[in-house]
Amino acid sequence: MNNVHQFDVVVVGAGGAGLMAGLYASRGAKTAVISKLYPTRSHTGAAQGGISAALGNYEEDKPEWHSYDTVKGSDYLGDQDAIEFMCNEAIDAVLELEHMGLPFDRTPQGKISQRPFGGHTNNETGKPVRRAAHAADRTGHMILQTLYQQCLKNKVNFFDEYQVLDFLIVNGKTAGVIAVELATGELHTFHAKSVVFATGGHGRIFEVTSNAYAYTGDGAAVLLRRGIPLEDMEFFQFHPTGIYKLGILITEGVRGEGGILINGLGERFMPKYAPTVKDLASRDVVSRAIYTEIREGRGVNGQNYVYLDVRPESVIKYAAMDGRTNLDGTPYTITGEQVLAKLPDIIDFCRVYLGVDPITQMMPIQPTAHYTMGGIPTNKFGEVVIDENNTVFPGLYAAGECACVSVHGANRLGTNSLLDLVVFGKYAGLKAAEYANQAEFETLPSDVESAARSQFDALRNGSGKENAFDLSTEMKKVMFEEVGIYRSEKGMKAAIQKIQEWKARYQQVKVSDAGRIFNTELLNAWELGNMLDIAEVVAECALNRKESRGGHSREDFPNRDDHNWLKHTLAWKKNGKVEIGYKPVVITKHKPKERVY
Ligand code: FUM
Repeated sequence: MNNVHQFDVVVVGAGGAGLMAGLYASRGAKTAVISKLYPTRSHTGAAQGGISAALGNYEEDKPEWHSYDTVKGSDYLGDQDAIEFMCNEAIDAVLELEHMGLPFDRTPQGKISQRPFGGHTNNETGKPVRRAAHAADRTGHMILQTLYQQCLKNKVNFFDEYQVLDFLIVNGKTAGVIAVELATGELHTFHAKSVVFATGGHGRIFEVTSNAYAYTGDGAAVLLRRGIPLEDMEFFQFHPTGIYKLGILITEGVRGEGGILINGLGERFMPKYAPTVKDLASRDVVSRAIYTEIREGRGVNGQNYVYLDVRPESVIKYAAMDGRTNLDGTPYTITGEQVLAKLPDIIDFCRVYLGVDPITQMMPIQPTAHYTMGGIPTNKFGEVVIDENNTVFPGLYAAGECACVSVHGANRLGTNSLLDLVVFGKYAGLKAAEYANQAEFETLPSDVESAARSQFDALRNGSGKENAFDLSTEMKKVMFEEVGIYRSEKGMKAAIQKIQEWKARYQQVKVSDAGRIFNTELLNAWELGNMLDIAEVVAECALNRKESRGGHSREDFPNRDDHNWLKHTLAWKKNGKVEIGYKPVVITKHKPKERVY
């Protein structure tokens, strides 16, 4: 074996969760973070609008309200013990980021500024509450920069541009990972006592997505192949406002600042679907509303988009109609300069990619595949659990979007993702170090790299006629159309049939670049294998769940069915087939009821 590295804790992924885990683990154990990207290019940087915490900096707010909103937003599939834990930790988590130097926007009194976001309410009035702490519309970007600096200060060992290929299990325990160094094409063995997966989501299985190119479900796919189940994979969130065709995120913060959605007839349509919170309803509700407007012929110019309008005169007009006021009770107002100061990045995106200036023009938007609610099952300490009884796998942890704690259940509230990765990244890191400090290194067999090597070499030396990019394009289109916002048995069965065909064709993929140095064609082909495995699990789990809940909307089973389906799905890959089991949802205070908006 060449290129062997030994660390107590290895973290895979350097987004917000990976950096937080790396930082906390490094305080108690020798820690490495490996990532296929340079850390500050991770997808956390694309999170715009804010991180939720009941700081109450503008108006009354409480962690209990935050918890209840999250439970309700999850369509009652979130585990309430984990949700309470996260919402109670939120205030300290945001203050810790502030103390690390994160440049939050400020209130006139110098406190951290907060804005409203969908589904976050004052539980007594039902009205939106300002809960999203923000740094303009680049909150995720600032979290990444802040945490990366802290990790460097704490001497975390970084292996940038290393792609994880395999997870090592010896004697039923964690023993490390195999990764390929992209600069050389060489395999490396990371021998470890604890491994934390923080590899992000898999939105790239869909055609229109806000997700980075890197979001190909690598960590989940690697663990699935090693016998670890995935939880609630049928639940995927479509964010209502992606730039038309491109999918690039236009933050919900636009609607938090008073922006509204307008159909092709020039009508504001959200009051029809959510009379109380209107444009600030949960994302599943708003995405379906937009899709319905488009399907019923009220898209703009008969196309698949509607408008998002944040022009100051529109915001002021609709705020007056809604009775929205400033905190001192005066009518809500906003100027072009204020829109620019609060939302600089999205103004820039629209100007650059669309030639549209949101201060004077409406933005063409459509729902975009945004967030993976399901993933690697964990408890609230980031420990990976592998069955219906929540049995912990020794030394294995997961945090961030690749994990399913589950705090988001069937639908995540905006700004709870940044909170999730900070809170659970921290506990995964702490627990990984704690475990490593009382465990021994497992002895690695001499052929430890062989599975990864043969898989990678087969792809490198393939002599078939299939092209990975073409296959990937077909997959994304079908997944978006048949396993997207609306789903039906017929469409999903067709998608599953296609996935089997693509998997067979994948065996015939030819990579034309034979080089070893930064062979991104080979890397993309390998990522496609991960996406196909993940797409299969998503489609099988979605077909299996015969109800509609949160982000999972079945045309043939339009109602939520608590009697039969108030349970988590677990999916294993066994003998080439997806096998499904279940585990109960943890309910503490809030008995399921109908969601009202
Ligand atoms: O709309 C947004 O700014 C996205 C935030 C999130 O997904 O939490």
